[in-house]
Amino acid sequence: MAKSILVGKKPTNYEVEILDKPISKRNISLAIKPYNKILIVSDDGIPKKYLLEIKKLIPSSKTVHVYILPAGEKSKSIKSFNLILENLASLKFDRTDCLIALGGGMVGDITGFVASTYLRGIDFIQIPTTLLSQVDSSVGGKTAINIAQGKNLVGAFYNPKKVLISLDYLKTLSDKEYKSGLGEVIKYAFILNKKLHKILKSNTGLVLSRDLKILEEIVYESIKTKAKIVTQDEKENGVRALLNFGHTFGHAIEAKNNYKGISHGEAVVLGMVIASEISYLENYINEKDLDEIKHLITSLGLNPNFKKYTYAELKPYLMNDKKVSKGKLNLILLNKVGNAFKTNEFNNLNLLKAFKK
Ligand SMILES: NC(=O)c1ccc[n+]([C@@H]2O[C@H](COP(=O)([O-])OP(=O)(O)OC[C@H]3O[C@@H](n4cnc5c(N)ncnc54)[C@H](O)[C@@H]3O)[C@@H](O)[C@H]2O)c1
Repeated sequence: MAKSILVGKKPTNYEVEILDKPISKRNISLAIKPYNKILIVSDDGIPKKYLLEIKKLIPSSKTVHVYILPAGEKSKSIKSFNLILENLASLKFDRTDCLIALGGGMVGDITGFVASTYLRGIDFIQIPTTLLSQVDSSVGGKTAINIAQGKNLVGAFYNPKKVLISLDYLKTLSDKEYKSGLGEVIKYAFILNKKLHKILKSNTGLVLSRDLKILEEIVYESIKTKAKIVTQDEKENGVRALLNFGHTFGHAIEAKNNYKGISHGEAVVLGMVIASEISYLENYINEKDLDEIKHLITSLGLNPNFKKYTYAELKPYLMNDKKVSKGKLNLILLNKVGNAFKTNEFNNLNLLKAFKK
């Protein structure tokens, strides 16, 4: 059965629909009803049948165009941004038309950014096809591209008109990409959602086998948590910082590896364990909590061991992070499993100790 969550504040709020079957003609027709021309942006790593299916479902009264990017983070660039804009202009797209992002977070981020700028903003719809994009990047209105100086440095807050999620897409996702998304699911459980924590803990086998019923529950609970936070704080001025749990260290680990070999989710998982170790050393959580955190991560097939990294080698990346104010790191720590908070008042020695323990 389909589930639905409303995200954001009026007048730019939007519905996220979660389907346990492939997207239907009715789903698409309703979503694109107001528009004349449609440009579907996707990438060449996504099974071709998904694009063909969506194209087939679009009523013949609409004109459909397609723009395929090479798969991978490199495509989230000024160059691709420019090419998609020029394509829209030469196809004479106007504000009665719309974009569909069919793909993972890379496609969603760049398509959203194009939509936010073309003609000072045209509508776009997200059809996320990776677990990470379903539970995280398609919800919350952050759009972006990368420049040489850093990832996601150029972008806009711009909400989609609709997010259509089919769990069916997750069947073809590689193990690495699936686990990357699981990292973010685990994050929601640790920072806010005790129900999700329980579901994950009692169903590790079903989560790993991508059981449809469990997927529906974990995707729904994850989006509910993200929706709650981003609706309260659309422009990242406050509570949205909690979503960065594990990300300060995770980003440093990704950068240290030149974004190769380790997925975003795998790095965030290591970051969450580091932040949990510090939470323990600061006496916010006890040893049992810390063990439980590591146990859940391990039982979901992810690696909690960050010991191959030293504080000294991550430090330069940490200090570049936007989570630094007045020379001190802002950290998201846990005061229990299922409850996170932001602080820069912690003993720096505990930061060092976490890496030596
Ligand atoms: N906007 C936000 O709030 C936000 C949040 C988190 C991450 N992000 C961004 O998201 C991006 C990462 O997203 P991602 O992890 O989805 O990676 P991705 O979009 O690069 O997709 C990963 C790979 O999976 C393939 N793929 C996609 N769907 C598939 C499917 N159903 N079956 C088989 N293969 C499929 C893609 O072709 C690609 O090769 C990064 O650019 C990151 O900055 C944005």
